Amino acid sequence: MARHISASVAHAGRGRELVSNQETVRSEAPAAAPRNAAPLELDRVTKQYPGEARPALEELSISVPAGEICVLVGPSGCGKTTAMRLVNRLIDLTSGDIRLGGESITTRNVHELRREIGYVIQQVGLFPHLSIAANIATVPRLLGWKRARIDARVEELFRRLHDKVV
Ligand SMILES: Nc1ncnc2c1ncn2[C@@H]1O[C@H](COP(=O)(O)OP(=O)(O)OP(=O)(O)O)[C@@H](O)[C@H]1O
Ligand SMILES: [Mg+2]
Repeated sequence: MARHISASVAHAGRGRELVSNQETVRSEAPAAAPRNAAPLELDRVTKQYPGEARPALEELSISVPAGEICVLVGPSGCGKTTAMRLVNRLIDLTSGDIRLGGESITTRNVHELRREIGYVIQQVGLFPHLSIAANIATVPRLLGWKRARIDARVEELFRRLHDKVV
């Protein structure tokens, strides 16, 4: 990859390190990682799209401790979206490995893996005929959650968003 991708790992909003794509990001784990948080490790990840002269990502290594925030920064086309798509297996690795909670994503059931990874759905990914609450409730509904649990979770997420914005 000609243009470098950078990763900044932070906890509680404080940036700790900024490194190039050829290095591994290291940061101490927070004293108490949030419940359900898992460490994420990209290990010499390469993605070569068929027919392209150069790989979209080449030997990218990033280590994100459980509960920390990692932000990928780089110019358009440097591979940020490609890196994200590899993590939830929307696209497949050419070489290298990605481990979530110490386990290679390549050995996981792809549907279960994706349901463990939250992401912000925008634009065409949303259901325009449904309310915001119903959009948020889509995956919990697929998972068979009870109505009361879904409502409580939607309410909790709205509240957290409200607290961030206001
Ligand atoms: N499906 C594809 N087939 C071939 N090449 C692709 C494909 N998707 C992305 N690329 C190429 O891979 C490289 C990385 O693209 P990517 O979308 O990951 O960049 P990005 O950092 O997310 O850019 P942006 O900031 O514009 O969103 C680019 O050169 C892009 O043209
Ligand atoms: Mg992108």
